[in-house]
Amino acid sequence: MFDRQAHAQRTQWFVNDRFGMFIHWGLYAIPARGEWVRSVERISNEEYQRYFHEFNPVDYDPRTWARLAKQAGMRYAVMTAKHHDGFCLFDSKHTDYKATNTPAGRDLVREYIEAFRAEGLKVGLYYSLLDWHHPDYPHYGDAHHPMRENELFKGAQHNFGRYVDYLHAQVRELCTNYGKLDLMWFDFSYGELFGEAWRATELVRMVRSLQPGILIDNRLEEAAANSMLSGEPAEYAGDFLSPEQLLPPQGMFDCNGNPLLWEACITLNNNWGYCHNDTYYKPASMVIRKLVECVSKGGNMLLNVGPDARGRIPQASVRILEQMGEWMAVNQDAIYGCGHADIDKPDYGRVTRNGNTLYFHVTENTVGLLPLLGVERSDIRSVRLLATGAELPIIEDFRTAHYNNVFVKLGDSPILPDEADTVVAVMLR
Ligand code: GLC
Repeated sequence: MFDRQAHAQRTQWFVNDRFGMFIHWGLYAIPARGEWVRSVERISNEEYQRYFHEFNPVDYDPRTWARLAKQAGMRYAVMTAKHHDGFCLFDSKHTDYKATNTPAGRDLVREYIEAFRAEGLKVGLYYSLLDWHHPDYPHYGDAHHPMRENELFKGAQHNFGRYVDYLHAQVRELCTNYGKLDLMWFDFSYGELFGEAWRATELVRMVRSLQPGILIDNRLEEAAANSMLSGEPAEYAGDFLSPEQLLPPQGMFDCNGNPLLWEACITLNNNWGYCHNDTYYKPASMVIRKLVECVSKGGNMLLNVGPDARGRIPQASVRILEQMGEWMAVNQDAIYGCGHADIDKPDYGRVTRNGNTLYFHVTENTVGLLPLLGVERSDIRSVRLLATGAELPIIEDFRTAHYNNVFVKLGDSPILPDEADTVVAVMLR
């Protein structure tokens, strides 16, 4: 049975922090064609093994990653402990297919957790339910396995129950050997493989018993069939929905209209894992506005970086996150602790709210004066430009006489003070 009270208690930090770093890293950084390269190019275990023997991220220093995340305004992080290729970035005693057996010779997860905790960020792990390396995971005829069309694997016997035992044993290791974890991000259910196919109730009970306050995502169920949406969440439904590479048009609600927690996971270019020819990076201004959009709709954003084979976050990603950090440094109050404002979206941007403060996010300048929708003049205690604290004057003249709205003057320039997003903070009485 889903305990709503406990859920509300353990998710408080998540709803407050709003902004996290997603990290997709592993052997696939060497072929540098994204984390699905094995499946897309039908690469066998044997062909892929060359990357195992080569993996040696000589520049891996998760303290620099953690500082970058913190400076960008990120409050938590989720890193791949094991992705679909089955390669373990942690020292599991249940497999030899792990980073400690590569030239890297390190428990990359342990170093990540220690570094991000040291910078004050909450730490999460992504664990793939799929495993294209494990002999007991379905091969021929599976929807995604690299050998799904390879006749050599037709009729092969797989003991799926033994694979699920392995999955549970590794999740137990992660929840036991690395101290307090704040998030477990499972990925993903499909076809017949969802819910109790993973022995999900047993898995979730084990995770929550070892890590009492942990948050779990919704992908032990299929995205479209998530029981949170039905208003009667299964015990393994997770704590938040995880829309991917798309922002919910109206936010996310159950069938009874109750708002649901959600976290949109977004890439900076078009790949989760490192892809050296994917130069289609989103501008910082766009990512800032998408973070605001998520918060204005009551959601979080988990923004992805895909470090390269040397262990470096691509410079293009670093530059975007640094620019986000400059904006967050003076506008974080309009993000942390904020949510939807119950005010219609203005033409010129969006609105977030924290208690009795409204934050009007202006991404397109108005002509003349800025209308503050949804507020009465008598409700207003103060109007400030958030980034500087400067008072913004409320203007009432012949131009405003026709309207019931409150209008403020942003300045004389047609160019916004911050063209990415200029935030007007309105403190209500
Ligand atoms: C999809 C992809 C996976 C990625 C995940 C991130 O499930 O299969 O590669 O890790 O999205 O949300």
